[in-house]
Amino acid sequence: MNKKLRSQNWFGKKGKDGFIYRAWMKNQGIPNYEFKGKPVIGICNTWSELTPCNAHFRELAESVKRGISEAGGFPVEFPVMSLGETLIKPTAMLYRNLASMDVEESIRANPIDGVVLLCGCDKTTPSLVMGACSVNIPTIVVSGGPMLTGKYKGKNIGTSDIWRFSEAVRSGHMSEEEMEVTEACMARSRGHCAVMGTASTMACMVESLGLSLPENAAIPAADSRRKVLAQLSGIRIVEMVNEDLKPTDILTRKAFENAIKVNAAIGGSTNFVLHLLAIAGRVGVALSLKDFDVHSDDIPLIANLQPSGEHFVEDLYYAGGLPAVMKEILPSLHKDALTVNGKTVGKNCSSVACYDRNVIATAEQPFNDISGIVVVKGNICEEGAVLKPSAASPHLLKHSGKAVVFEDIEDYKNRIDDPNLDIDENSVMVLKNVGPKGYPGMPEVGNMGLPKKVLAKGITDMVRISDGRMSGTGFGTVVLHVSPEAAAGENFSVVKDGDMITLDVEKRILQADVSDEEFAKRKKEKQQVVTSYTRGYVSLYINHVEQAHLGADFDFLKGSSGSEVTRDSH
Ligand code: FES
Repeated sequence: MNKKLRSQNWFGKKGKDGFIYRAWMKNQGIPNYEFKGKPVIGICNTWSELTPCNAHFRELAESVKRGISEAGGFPVEFPVMSLGETLIKPTAMLYRNLASMDVEESIRANPIDGVVLLCGCDKTTPSLVMGACSVNIPTIVVSGGPMLTGKYKGKNIGTSDIWRFSEAVRSGHMSEEEMEVTEACMARSRGHCAVMGTASTMACMVESLGLSLPENAAIPAADSRRKVLAQLSGIRIVEMVNEDLKPTDILTRKAFENAIKVNAAIGGSTNFVLHLLAIAGRVGVALSLKDFDVHSDDIPLIANLQPSGEHFVEDLYYAGGLPAVMKEILPSLHKDALTVNGKTVGKNCSSVACYDRNVIATAEQPFNDISGIVVVKGNICEEGAVLKPSAASPHLLKHSGKAVVFEDIEDYKNRIDDPNLDIDENSVMVLKNVGPKGYPGMPEVGNMGLPKKVLAKGITDMVRISDGRMSGTGFGTVVLHVSPEAAAGENFSVVKDGDMITLDVEKRILQADVSDEEFAKRKKEKQQVVTSYTRGYVSLYINHVEQAHLGADFDFLKGSSGSEVTRDSH
């Protein structure tokens, strides 16, 4: 390696400045030789007891450190904002961009030559990757791994069962007490959600983009091989610094197209769309909503995993992991795309085997021909909306029905079980003002529960449309991320009860039977909603967040500021 390490701009200095940069570090018992030109590797840790999916990360960081030291690097662990999906109100998505700013500035401001991103729970992965991309020093991702499959009364359970249990309680088929017993049965080990929800989708995303070592996505958190992968990643990041292998060398357009194809093959979460668009924006790759439809079109569903299928991410690992899925669709992938181990996607996948065809099907006989993310457009989503057909009911993929409109989530909660609500299974449920600006933060409420009186008939799915998101563990015929959102004041904001709405997935249409003139008239008559957030982060968010079809990043965070810091601190 010939290039001067950026950390030497701190630790390599002479005189007063060098003294200050080194001396206080030495209060941790660090020998002088550590500062003499070793690659300094930051371990960006989202450990937090308030992010239970990442609560084992201090232990995982020790394995990473072991690898860094073994390879001749100097490990330094640092915390960043951690987003626990289940606890944070009003939604972790509100803070994804804030956490990415924390990551970006923490990396740039410190004497770090390379960085290992420790992430697991949903938003921790995109926020860390977005932030690191905007600095663009050598970066490798180590995911925390999924929980072991939940076990309840002899049955496998996971996060997707929450929606089933909840509907069972509402329809009187399960008691509240029984549902409480299932809590510990589902979350019985360290790790993130055990199904192909957003966290595992994100872990697959980084692996398919080439940002992690192969097999990173599926090794269970509780499996000792997760620590082995962490140690190997620690070794590899030191080599990457020596090779000057940076995110922009890996995150080419081909890498993004690969990630979209792999996401289709695994039945990944709709949240993938938002996060991948935001990451592409950071590295300057022009990705649009249409790419998700185009590049997943010829990819069948290979992985038989909940919520689109039957099994759990633990099973995916035992069956061969993500490399075995990628091998099945290898002819469709860009085989020459580079990954962090210095090898191409083609090389990484060529010699892997599948050990269970119930979990990983073949491309010739896929688990389901329907896969991926479908992008629909029409007069109530001019910039597009998304739907995950593999999680939807086939009979509803072409459906027309009268709108039953909820102006916001409180309106929905207040009226959904009103016996007098004029709604049946043919209606189309519309939920407004749960978008990026409108909520604010775009919560996962798009797969709103059905009305009790419909559930009582044994109906389990209806067409639901919103400008919000859905949990990656959710399912149903749910149209999400309507853009422009209701708060933007376009047509979606003035959809009314009784409007006839048509969803035609094959034709990629979501349209209200309302004329342009009528929409214009309604918009003119509509009162402008005045935002009540005038200070703090939320006001910054509302003023700068982009619409869902652009990834909901802040307008001023697009691109990179690089890693150079030209001025000293003292
Ligand atoms: Fe953390 Fe599902 S709640 S991954």
